[in-house]
Amino acid sequence: MCGIVGAVAKDNVVPVLLEGLLRLEYRGYDSAGLVVSNNSLHRVRTTGRVAELVKLVDEQQAEGSAGIAHTRWATHGAPSERNAHPHVSGEETKIAVVHNGIIENHEAMRKRLQADGYEFVSDTDTEVIAHLVAHHLKQTADLLKAVCLSIAELQGAYAIVVMEEVRPDRIIVARNGAPLLLGLGEEGNYAASDASALLKVTRNMIYLEEGDVAELDRDNYRIVNCLNDPLGEPVERAVHESDLSNEAIEMGPYDHFMQKEIFEQPGAVANTLEMVFNAQSISPNLFGSTAEKIFSDTDSLLILACGTSYHAGLVAQYWLETVAGMPCNVEIASEYRYRDPVANPRTLVVGISQSGETADTLAALSYAKKLGHQHSLAICNVAESALIRQTDLRFLTRAGPEIGVASTKAFTTQLASLLLLTVTLAKMRNKLSVEHEQQMIKALRHLPAAVQSSLQVEPEVAVWAERFSEKHHALFLGRGVHYPIAMEGALKLKEISYIHAEAYAAGELKHGPLALVDSEMPVVAIAPNDQLLGKLKSNLQEVHARGGELYVFADADSQIQESENLHVIRLAEHAGLLSPILHTIPLQLLAYHVALNKGTDVDKPRNLAKAVTVE
Ligand code: M6R
Repeated sequence: MCGIVGAVAKDNVVPVLLEGLLRLEYRGYDSAGLVVSNNSLHRVRTTGRVAELVKLVDEQQAEGSAGIAHTRWATHGAPSERNAHPHVSGEETKIAVVHNGIIENHEAMRKRLQADGYEFVSDTDTEVIAHLVAHHLKQTADLLKAVCLSIAELQGAYAIVVMEEVRPDRIIVARNGAPLLLGLGEEGNYAASDASALLKVTRNMIYLEEGDVAELDRDNYRIVNCLNDPLGEPVERAVHESDLSNEAIEMGPYDHFMQKEIFEQPGAVANTLEMVFNAQSISPNLFGSTAEKIFSDTDSLLILACGTSYHAGLVAQYWLETVAGMPCNVEIASEYRYRDPVANPRTLVVGISQSGETADTLAALSYAKKLGHQHSLAICNVAESALIRQTDLRFLTRAGPEIGVASTKAFTTQLASLLLLTVTLAKMRNKLSVEHEQQMIKALRHLPAAVQSSLQVEPEVAVWAERFSEKHHALFLGRGVHYPIAMEGALKLKEISYIHAEAYAAGELKHGPLALVDSEMPVVAIAPNDQLLGKLKSNLQEVHARGGELYVFADADSQIQESENLHVIRLAEHAGLLSPILHTIPLQLLAYHVALNKGTDVDKPRNLAKAVTVE
């Protein structure tokens, strides 16, 4: 999704802006641009990568002590230089704007501004902001006021940064529904949509709140809030020291971030469960100081999430019902937010998100609260995210920054956290004997080593991947708690290799999808040695009998033998409740190696973004 960086400093800010954009690249984008001010506004834009922008900036010797920069993920208008940010307006009062999010009333605003004589040269909703601010600037002669008056007229969720040619010593920023923070540095002051963009220059961050507008110059800043007063009431916001790791964002010895993140999983899971490793027993306090009280009032769960995080929720549903005996609904956030569900005040709402910035998940959570749900828990990988700030309880997955668009270590750490939640609730509901609790702690301690052992199958998976590269479709089968793992495997494959892949609960095959099976359709099956293995084997027979080519990930004790058109990779012996986590790893590796063979952009698959901050 789009990324924003703004800077005003003693020296040339171009290196800070470009470094920030490079650090935001992982979010996904299709064009990039910047404006710096040096007597006049100098704008450079490109549809290429940030590396291309770096080259252009260098050739054109663009520099200045204030500037704004942007990576754009197209929503309104094609990815083109004309639509790339910053957008500018005005002749005498020339201003430039970068923007994340969506302006919902842009069509009406565009008509009104055109009637006032403003000429539009792009298809974007952002250009409306540029002209609207220029329009108010003419009346007020004060950029901060002009921004405040403009946001009072804009509908939607957005974050913007604005600068003005005649005042090259300051930038104005505004937040309304999309993340934006200030960075306070020794050499200057900065703004960005994500803390990682500013780590090279400062760790002192202010997270702006809804309706905040701030003015930054190189030594000072001031913040006003425009929610109740269109001209803004002065407000104070706390300064936080970010503890994001700088190094975690480097690729190190790996070829891709996704590869690095797959292999980081033993460590990521260990970090996530660290508090449990030294504990003698499991305590609800791991989820927050009020968790014990909230959990004892809870009689059911509602999980809201999107994509991979939704799949983690589906796995948790099996665990919560089986181990803790708790009813659990799992909903796709973008669907939930537009339904009329019946709220139960004793239902704990759980938002799962890697980024903590997914617009649909945030909106679904707010909607659930509005409907009458009283308590909420975030399972999230970003401590400084909107989701974490929106819930009563929180559990950080501590996977470290995930850069590859395809979620890997975030998923397995979400599963580890959800298993911990399950065990905690089971204990509180007297569903877990002391002996069973100790066994669970032991199993969780073993999880990082078990994940490491699943990674060992990579060479065999790489051989299978060669056969997939020529295929156009694939089916993934699983049963029970491994059905969502099949869904996750299919999502990984389609997302990065562009092979059409669908997952089915294996028992559903003969109700339709079996018609698709022939020698051209690879069928991937997850075959753990659990109580459904016998049923699954019958389903595999149905595929085999119709000439389908089966690729089976089996537990060592699953007793599935290789034969013609039936290939087997064996993991370790069945790992009980941990099994879905361990069966995820080879599916990630399969998608990664197929994508490598196909030469796709593994870390930045086409059309996708890392943090989906628009609806
Ligand atoms: O940051 P979130 O976990 O809220 O993101 C949700 C989805 O956009 C995300 O999981 C997406 O499905 C992944 N790219 C899949 O690999």
